[in-house]
Amino acid sequence: MTNLLLAADAEIEAATAAARARLGGLTPEIGLILGSGLGELSSALSDAVTVPYDGLPGFPRLSVAGHAGRLVAGRMGRHSVAMLQGRVHAYETNTADAMAVPVGVLARLGCTTLIVTNAAGSLLPEVGPGGMMMISDHISLTGRSPLARAVGDGRFVDMVDAYDPGLRARFRAIAAARGLPLAEGVYMWFVGPAFETPAEIRAARVLGADAVGMSTVPEVVIARALGMRVAGFSLITNLAAGMGGSHLSHARTLARAADGASKLKGLLQAFMEDEA
Ligand code: HPA
Repeated sequence: MTNLLLAADAEIEAATAAARARLGGLTPEIGLILGSGLGELSSALSDAVTVPYDGLPGFPRLSVAGHAGRLVAGRMGRHSVAMLQGRVHAYETNTADAMAVPVGVLARLGCTTLIVTNAAGSLLPEVGPGGMMMISDHISLTGRSPLARAVGDGRFVDMVDAYDPGLRARFRAIAAARGLPLAEGVYMWFVGPAFETPAEIRAARVLGADAVGMSTVPEVVIARALGMRVAGFSLITNLAAGMGGSHLSHARTLARAADGASKLKGLLQAFMEDEA
């Protein structure tokens, strides 16, 4: 694996050792990050082992309802899978690298693929609450980078095809075969925690955004710096500000994400049972 070159390297080593001790012989190949309201996806794992974040050095302490704070690993279909049930956001820590240690640990444990999930607002009128969007690319104009404290040439990460075209083709085929509606589009990262204004959403549309949210992008940059293949999914909990007429709230986000989680679970289960 590429050297991480992050300020967090020592913590990653320590947390990986602690996680290995708890996981026994289980060596995950695929890592998942479960977004707001999506923690329930870990019920898809068999023979699951759960390690609370507070037993892992450098892992974040979570403050947001809907994020449990546990690493859960087990079998899913043909694969060994490790799930991060809960993330921290830049709006909680005022840094973009708070997930560097958990993502680094997934990589060190052996995950060569990272699947990121989030709850998001949609800019596509035809993809409303309960819809699912596979992320084809992202826009980050927040001025924040999870690699701001990294050193060396490894920080100049190529972001072309950051969301792996091969993985996307497989997910597209699986969704089509199962008749699962799956949109595909560009995710734009806003720091939050205030939701966007309608004017910001109009600006995002001009820039090419299809969905907006407050997470994911820093994790994807770190994963790409570590050479992991990435796929990403937004579970749409609302039409973006100014589009749906109703006001936005975190409670509504969580409720809607939980409603839609079973679709994402079905897609992921089919992927894990797939040949490749
Ligand atoms: N904006 C930002 N983050 C979100 C949204 C939104 O509309 N919905 C769920 N997470």
